[in-house]
Amino acid sequence: MTIKDICASFDIGGKYISCTEIVSGNINCTYKVKFKRDGEDKEYVLQRINKLVFKEPDKVMDNIIRVTHHIRMNIRKEGASTKTGVLRAFYSRESDEPYFIDDCGDYWRCYRYIKNSVTYDTCDDNDIICRAGSAFGKFQNYLKDFPAKSLFITIPNFHNTIDRFKAFHEAIEKNPYKRVNKVKAEIEKLLSFEKGACLLQEYLDNGSIPYRVTHNDTKCNNVSFDRDTGEALAVLDLDTVMPGAIAHDFGDAIRFIANTVIEDDPDLDSVALDLNKYEAFAKGFITEVKDTLTDLEKETMNLGVFTMTVELAVRFLTDYILGDKYFKTKFPGHNVDRARNQIALAVDIEKKRTEMEEILKKYF
Ligand SMILES: Nc1ncnc2c1ncn2[C@@H]1O[C@H](COP(=O)(O)OP(=O)(O)O)[C@@H](O)[C@H]1O
Ligand SMILES: [Mg+2]
Repeated sequence: MTIKDICASFDIGGKYISCTEIVSGNINCTYKVKFKRDGEDKEYVLQRINKLVFKEPDKVMDNIIRVTHHIRMNIRKEGASTKTGVLRAFYSRESDEPYFIDDCGDYWRCYRYIKNSVTYDTCDDNDIICRAGSAFGKFQNYLKDFPAKSLFITIPNFHNTIDRFKAFHEAIEKNPYKRVNKVKAEIEKLLSFEKGACLLQEYLDNGSIPYRVTHNDTKCNNVSFDRDTGEALAVLDLDTVMPGAIAHDFGDAIRFIANTVIEDDPDLDSVALDLNKYEAFAKGFITEVKDTLTDLEKETMNLGVFTMTVELAVRFLTDYILGDKYFKTKFPGHNVDRARNQIALAVDIEKKRTEMEEILKKYF
């Protein structure tokens, strides 16, 4: 089937004109599609959902429809634009579902393209980082009265750090590729972090902090910005919305945005938490959510930064020990480089904890 055929199955009017691939995401296959209707250009996003990552795409779409509906209602109440402020999914003409299943069994969805928007894969501009923080904070606010636990768990135990460590222990025990000896120091370091990094999940498990709707992929390129004004428009990429701790979203965003180098840079001396970027994101995010957070949630925000960094290091190293099956690797040892990078970042986060707390205090 062609992209044009797939478009035809969605309830979007007009004449198909053209299609270009958007290469910035790394999970789904994404296309920008142009239509013409009554002489006017219409743009859509067509995406093939990655079935290896999302085993039940219908549940992913169910979550997205419910969450975007809730956000839309709240944006309307504010009198702001729902056209650019939230993803809008179209339904299949045949099945009346918000997806179309092609002859290969692949799931496709179609969104309105957020007009005149741009996303940034990496970002060094603190103004933009701050706006991304506000966008993710607003996302939390729009969903604060949404029943988080009613969402489908589309990736079980995604940020369950206790479970991630359990898998790590099992991998070390099995040692199927005899690689454990090569990463003894890294294992030791991560095990020394285990207790601290599992605390956040314990708080969730024992009800000390609430489950909220979390985005779970709070990267810069999942926020769309107005091409001309630079204003943050909408939070994109809602595939992983699930119940979680708000500190997961804050922590993962900081882990990604405020690392001075990229995630797999082997030059460990250059790895550090950039406090300026940290502050820029925190300012945007915390200013939005501060009135919603419980006291313990406030205390766990920086724990979230540490936890998400350690958790990812654990996942990289587990994958290395088990033969590099999950993360795509470009060379042997790629996962070890990634794990070392995240460990170095976690060490720096520990060092800067007092400064980070001081910064947060300013915005609470
Ligand atoms: N509705 C949309 N409007 C404008 N751009 C979009 C839209 N949806 C996705 N994009 C663009 O496509 C990219 C990839 O989409 P995304 O949903 O993030 O997929 P992935 O899960 O692969 O990261 C985004 O970073 C953004 O640039
Ligand atoms: Mg994305």
